[in-house]
Amino acid sequence: MTVRKRASSETTAAAAAQQPKSQETTTATSATTTDPPIAPPKSGTILKLSLLLIIPYAYLILFHYRVDADLKRSILINAGLSLAGFFVTRTMIPVASSYVIRRSLFGYDINKKGTPQGSVKVPESLGIVVGIVFLVLAILFQYFNFTSDSNWLVEYNAALASICFMTLLGFVDDVLDIPWRVKLILPSFAALPLLMAYAGHTTIIIPKPLIPYVGLEVLDLGWIYKLYMGLLAVFCTNSINIHAGLNGLEVGQTVVIASAILIHNAMQIGASTDPEYKQAHAFSIYLVQPLLATSLALLSYNWYPSSVFVGDTYTYFAGMTMAVVGILGHFSETLLIFFIPQVLNFLLSLPQLSGYVKCPRHRLPRFDPQTGLLTGTNDGTVVNLFLRQFGRMSEKSLCILLLVFQAIGCCFCFVLRWFLAGWYK
Ligand code: UD1
Ligand code: MG
Repeated sequence: MTVRKRASSETTAAAAAQQPKSQETTTATSATTTDPPIAPPKSGTILKLSLLLIIPYAYLILFHYRVDADLKRSILINAGLSLAGFFVTRTMIPVASSYVIRRSLFGYDINKKGTPQGSVKVPESLGIVVGIVFLVLAILFQYFNFTSDSNWLVEYNAALASICFMTLLGFVDDVLDIPWRVKLILPSFAALPLLMAYAGHTTIIIPKPLIPYVGLEVLDLGWIYKLYMGLLAVFCTNSINIHAGLNGLEVGQTVVIASAILIHNAMQIGASTDPEYKQAHAFSIYLVQPLLATSLALLSYNWYPSSVFVGDTYTYFAGMTMAVVGILGHFSETLLIFFIPQVLNFLLSLPQLSGYVKCPRHRLPRFDPQTGLLTGTNDGTVVNLFLRQFGRMSEKSLCILLLVFQAIGCCFCFVLRWFLAGWYK
């Protein structure tokens, strides 16, 4: 069986047209012999980015706050495992790339169409490496958690089942190219293991200014809470997937949000004396540290110019992981503020997603091969909005600008929480 999704899809038709006819029908075996190995990882860029993202979190958890010795030990062991995961992922991506190319799972870089780089086969779905390494680390880590109680294991493993199911469905999507409407609901199936196993509270704390109107301080939502959890999973996965299409953007937004989640968890653990509350944020750390480490390894290959594409395998995996940590850590409101660019992108996308306005297969900017610059189109995405607002720019500059916007959104969330503390909840 030879998977031909990328080669034959409408998305790559123009790029594929530049290929000789025989290349379109290349067999699995000849792909191996003709395709050169992928470019080496951009280690310098990733090292600088990692330091920028990790230092504030490391400072908070190691020096600023007094964290219980057992908890700190578990976090450090998890960090060590994550570091190992970074190197394993970095080593495995070139290996997996040769396998996916061999099965014709590749794409053409649309934002380079018309240049020699635009006709290079870029291996797809390398998120599968991240997903597998992440799951192995998360499963192994259970052995080293010294703060465990009997309850957390059930939810932790249900969360892993949801992440695993989502990764599988993402990979299925990459291979089969599932239609859009079906794609949108896939995460609701993947969220089922967590929703069914969830035995935590289903209450929400009513914001203080609303208590006089509602007449309650705490409201038990029952099954509606579970519905909300499911919708959160659907939103997080799809919103990452549709804020995409630039080299480094899918993974870049994930590493920025993941770093913000870690800082938020550290602050909550540091400020609280309630062991259950601390535990909830610690679980979030145990899943986000490996997510960040393995994603950074993927980013080293996916950064501009991308030598691999992440695929829907990665976007769904990353979105689901962040959704489950938000759910189990009980900070879904904060998570949604970290997702400000994704919320904006979703709102801009609504007319096209709902079918009210025609939605092409790719809603990407227009690339000019002469200047190497991107121009915004009328498709409703933040990528196009930025190009229309700030003028034409290169793919790399646009990606950096969007990641800075993501980081500003996360900082805004911290400022907002600081201002609202005590008044809102
Ligand atoms: C979503 C978006 C689509 C966007 C695509 C890009 C919606 C409704 N869908 O679709 O508009 O074009 O993501 O990922 O908003 N690609 C690049 N450069 C990159 C990353 C991807 O050219 O940096 C291209 C490659 O041809 C790659 C393909 O996008 O093969 C992957 O697209 P896929 O993830 O399958 O698209 P969707 O998630 O369906
Ligand atoms: Mg995608």
